Amino acid sequence: MNYQILVTNREQTFVVKQGELLLQAMEKACQQAINVGCRGGGCGLCKVKILQGRYQTKRMSKAHISAAEQASGFALACRVFPESDLVIESDHFEDQSKQTIQVSVVK
Ligand code: FES
Repeated sequence: MNYQILVTNREQTFVVKQGELLLQAMEKACQQAINVGCRGGGCGLCKVKILQGRYQTKRMSKAHISAAEQASGFALACRVFPESDLVIESDHFEDQSKQTIQVSVVK
């Protein structure tokens, strides 16, 4: 069985076979709709938001996906097994090492 994946923010679609990982299928389809990093749940680069559809995930690091995020549909594409057609949004990786903090000093 095949499932159709629509990546709304990139306007791209690809097909995932049942039992296949979301990120792996996207790479097999030679697409770049989702950022690819370690492919093993360690870097968070492939973070997506699943807007519609059913899926299972392997264990995901809380450093990249908090329980609240997981409950609202965020997942690591390299850990997701689609179980229906999905509508997703990619590009949710935030590089925390590049975040700036504004500090004001009052004398
Ligand atoms: S590619 Fe690194 S967490 Fe998915």
